[in-house]
Amino acid sequence: MHNSGSPETTKKAPTEILRRLTFADLPAVVSIERRSFASPWSPGMFVLEMSRESSVTLAATRGDRPVAYAIFSRYEEAWHMMNVAVAPEHRRRGVGSMLIGRALELIDADASLNPETDVTVPVTLEVRPSNRSAIALYEEFDFRRYGYRKGYYPDNGEDAMIMWRGDPAAAGVPEEALSAFPGA
Ligand SMILES: CC(C)(COP(=O)(O)OP(=O)(O)OC[C@H]1O[C@@H](n2cnc3c(N)ncnc32)[C@H](O)[C@@H]1OP(=O)(O)O)[C@@H](O)C(=O)NCCC(=O)NCCS
Repeated sequence: MHNSGSPETTKKAPTEILRRLTFADLPAVVSIERRSFASPWSPGMFVLEMSRESSVTLAATRGDRPVAYAIFSRYEEAWHMMNVAVAPEHRRRGVGSMLIGRALELIDADASLNPETDVTVPVTLEVRPSNRSAIALYEEFDFRRYGYRKGYYPDNGEDAMIMWRGDPAAAGVPEEALSAFPGA
């Protein structure tokens, strides 16, 4: 289990470089997105999320071309993982793990910059229960399961599994909602 951003024992050493996502990356990002999801984000959705002041957007690049990306946005009480994808031909080499680990380091550092919120801000995400590879990846970073959103995905009506890293009660999630799902 990992309490910080980076796994302690990683067998892989990805050669990709991490940097902030830029608007010039959009064509490559949209191409990865379309090859990764049944209901891909439109280019406008990326522009919207990348334009937000409180966001962490990262690209993993090869020769400065993105092969993966991650987008996290800050809401009042919690960070939300909005999107993460690795190009199919670059999967299972530790790139997704590297991206999420670095994003969580930046998120934790952001909290420590603000004395009023000098505690780990919880991070939440939604994932398809059928997406076992993503769930396994999130669990490596201490995300835990806390229930479902019914019929969340429009393409097939699949429920979304809600996961949290940190204390969802600290983000205002009512105790009664949490008691039904004490986490995995
Ligand atoms: C989920 C995703 C981002 C993982 O990226 P990745 O670079 O392949 O992941 P990593 O190589 O860093 O794997 C890290 C861990 O995740 C888990 N994992 C990743 N792919 C897996 C798979 N196909 N089967 C089982 N576990 C898997 C494993 O625990 C793995 O650790 P290990 O290799 O030591 O066993 C990638 O598969 C992807 O882009 N999928 C399509 C988009 C998507 O579903 N995004 C998430 C939306 S919520």
